[in-house]
Amino acid sequence: MKKKSRSKEVNSRHLAVEFQKKVLIIGYGAVARCTLPILLKHVKIPYENITILDFEDKAGELRSFTEKGVHFFCRKITPENLEQILSEYLEQGGLCIDLAWNIDCCAIVQWCHDHDVLYMNTSVEVWDSYEERFVGTPYEKSLYARQMRLKELTSSWQDATTFIVDHGANPGLISHFAKQGLIDIAERMVAEGIATDPARMQRLIREQDFALLAREVGVKVIHCSERDTQISCRPKEVDEFVGTWSIEGLREEGTAPAEIGWGTHEKEFPLLAHVPPTGPKNQIMLAQMGMNTWVRSWVPHQEIVGMVIRHGEAFGICDRWTVWENGVAVYRPTVHYAYMPCDGTIVSLHELKCRNYEMQSRLRILRDDEILSGADTLGALLMGHPYHCWWTGSILSIGEAHLLAPGQNATTVQVALGVVTAVMWMILNPRRGFCLPDDLPHDFVLDIALPYLGEFYSGPSDWTPLKNRTVYFQENPANNYDTEDVWQFKNFLFVN
Ligand SMILES: NC(=O)c1ccc[n+]([C@@H]2O[C@H](COP(=O)([O-])OP(=O)(O)OC[C@H]3O[C@@H](n4cnc5c(N)ncnc54)[C@H](O)[C@@H]3O)[C@@H](O)[C@H]2O)c1
Repeated sequence: MKKKSRSKEVNSRHLAVEFQKKVLIIGYGAVARCTLPILLKHVKIPYENITILDFEDKAGELRSFTEKGVHFFCRKITPENLEQILSEYLEQGGLCIDLAWNIDCCAIVQWCHDHDVLYMNTSVEVWDSYEERFVGTPYEKSLYARQMRLKELTSSWQDATTFIVDHGANPGLISHFAKQGLIDIAERMVAEGIATDPARMQRLIREQDFALLAREVGVKVIHCSERDTQISCRPKEVDEFVGTWSIEGLREEGTAPAEIGWGTHEKEFPLLAHVPPTGPKNQIMLAQMGMNTWVRSWVPHQEIVGMVIRHGEAFGICDRWTVWENGVAVYRPTVHYAYMPCDGTIVSLHELKCRNYEMQSRLRILRDDEILSGADTLGALLMGHPYHCWWTGSILSIGEAHLLAPGQNATTVQVALGVVTAVMWMILNPRRGFCLPDDLPHDFVLDIALPYLGEFYSGPSDWTPLKNRTVYFQENPANNYDTEDVWQFKNFLFVN
């Protein structure tokens, strides 16, 4: 089934909001470039109230905005100047949009909280993640540990200003795709008379209790499955890294340990698994890089083999979709990323390995004028229920992205919509404290985002990780699959 597009049913109440206080955008890279024009369409902000900072000189690129009153300064935020710079460009009630890649989330969130400033980012980061590269344990290097630090920092805050972390495309929109997919499955189960307790299922849908609903539906695994087929007219050169979004960001997360939201149905840990010493323990981390951990997954309409690169949704979705009873997690799905990037990035990652993970000297983020064809297909693949698999998400071709946001690419358009929707929600809900994407209403976000996301697809597939599996080496013990429960993590792991 292809779900009818919600894209034309935009709720006009949410189309535009006003904001009169100061706005600071940190970082003017691929995502910010794409975000700014869309943001200005949906959020009415006086141009002169907006300041953009980047440590690279982006004055030329920003001329069409600075001519209208937007301010740009070439400055780098560091641990030493964070306080001073934020105080210069922000005021009480203002808004900080962090689209850089190396600002410590706890430090900036603390400042924004103390000064009553709304804050959002698309990725939870630290000042220098490479510092701990050779000495930190998988736990110390993990996003999970960063989430624990944020939780500790904010646990005593009362009536705090809203701050949303991890609200891009994935993490970000993917949480809303997962909720929509879950509702679509549940509604179909009710309609087809296969729900054991239809009244209860309908109540859970109405109450939007996604943890209990996911248990009721029988979801065991959720992949954030992504296939990027955008292809450039300029092939990647030697000593060049080509990508469709932050290359620094991808290297940082790709070389970090793989992290997996660990479901209660899983029978055995994979090799090199580490369980965190503290917190809800809803994740495991592997003592191996995400870019070297591959799994089978599915997007419409093909099997893919993607990387288990760590991402916020592997924490957020499985944390918010856990059912606790007397302090024990009795239900939780396995959640992780399965990322098959564009061809140029796959080759770039291979070269990065050959260089012992030292970054290439030239970096190139693809823009629409050099992309010949392709699409970014990004969605939540919910598995283990009566329909086997159900994929819900965005299939955005470069042609459509070009019409919606000229000069960008399909990937950054998806991320930009995560940013714009979070900003709009924050402005309307300024005192909600610490929010993950899962804490925002999916209807609100999707109503605004979908007109920009190309084809919105939501439907089942009979795919399983064992469906197309061909065993080439029976002698490899990794081929001992679990045929009683096909949704075990070990069945997804790619082995030859
Ligand atoms: N959640 C998602 O779906 C998603 C997707 C893509 C990117 N991201 C994240 O969004 C952020 C931006 O991504 P991008 O693709 O635009 O990256 P980019 O590298 O194209 O742009 C980042 C910009 O920030 C600037 N910058 C970095 N640190 C700075 C600092 N301390 N002070 C001032 N400027 C600084 C850089 O010079 C660069 O121009 C990254 O954190 C990335 O990981 C999230």
